[in-house]
Amino acid sequence: MERKKTIFSGIQPSGEITLGNYLGAISNWVKIQNEYNCVYCVVDMHAITVRHDPKRLREQTLDVLALLIACGLDPEKNIIFIQSHVPQHAELTWILNCYTMYGELSRMTQFKDKSAKNPDNINAGLFDYPVLMAADILLYQTDLVPVGEDQKQHLELSRNIAQRFNFLYGDVFTLPEPYIPKIGGRVMSLTDPDMKMSKSDPNPNSKILLLDEPEAIMRKFRRAVTDSEAVVAYREGKSGINNLMAIYSAATSKDYKTIEAEFSGRGYGDFKTATGESVVELLSPVRTKFNELIKNKDYLTRVYTDNAGRAAALADRTLEKVRKKVGFVKKENKNA
Ligand code: TYM
Repeated sequence: MERKKTIFSGIQPSGEITLGNYLGAISNWVKIQNEYNCVYCVVDMHAITVRHDPKRLREQTLDVLALLIACGLDPEKNIIFIQSHVPQHAELTWILNCYTMYGELSRMTQFKDKSAKNPDNINAGLFDYPVLMAADILLYQTDLVPVGEDQKQHLELSRNIAQRFNFLYGDVFTLPEPYIPKIGGRVMSLTDPDMKMSKSDPNPNSKILLLDEPEAIMRKFRRAVTDSEAVVAYREGKSGINNLMAIYSAATSKDYKTIEAEFSGRGYGDFKTATGESVVELLSPVRTKFNELIKNKDYLTRVYTDNAGRAAALADRTLEKVRKKVGFVKKENKNA
């Protein structure tokens, strides 16, 4: 019988989760949860590569966990856990560091962007971020990684590291493939549609948060930057409208041709309202479910504790092989 494929993906608890995260990643995670063995991780260790408030990180880690469940991920079917609870991630990162080149990490565009934004905190963790990500993925013998477009370069690096290791030691790691949605893979800022919608953007009007109230969502869409042409059409040079069309399409499953026909001869006002309403409809059940879950700390504690145990058991299988391959002496179990 064919082995059920494994999916792994992660999300940083470094800000409030946006519509970009949802359309680019989480909504896909929900769609594929029945077909694959899925492992989803709240990557708190990645989140400390930039200066952060510890109290906020603690709260946001639980918020993200609750939000993933509220979005429809089933913590019984999937493994949903907190990265720092499974120290195997840190251990494999150290080993993979020794198989990753300085030049490779220097070429990572996210490292360059984040260094430019935080010039007084270009720490070694920020530089090493993609290796921790490779360890996340490779520990679980992952076949597919559902992510937004911005993570593609990191995934290519993960593959290169895995290939280099396999070349030296035999087939230790499965080579992961990216799984990027055609529509929604790169949701843009509502105020600057040539930039990606980002959790860390200080302008609240640039991003739709998953927990935004309907009025806030409608207001942000009404204010979204477009152009002066007043034609709803998907084409080069109309990045604001293209972005709204992608959002509307992802939220309603209508294709671009249908959307163009629906709004032909109508102004942007109608189109922005329709887009806002489609997103309100998409997110309302998520907000309701989240508000219930976040009150239930005992349930959340049970979920992240049980799931960390399941994740660690899988991670150990890979790590055992890796330790042996690189020549570490096997540690004997003192109770044996
Ligand atoms: P993060 O937390 O920045 O984003 C989580 C997921 O959301 C996607 N995404 C977007 N998709 C479309 N449009 C956008 N504007 C947008 N913004 C974010 C991201 O591509 C991502 O899929 N390094 C990762 C977390 C990570 C990870 C991993 C991912 C750590 N280890 C292993 C996959 C596998 C990150 O910072 O994602």
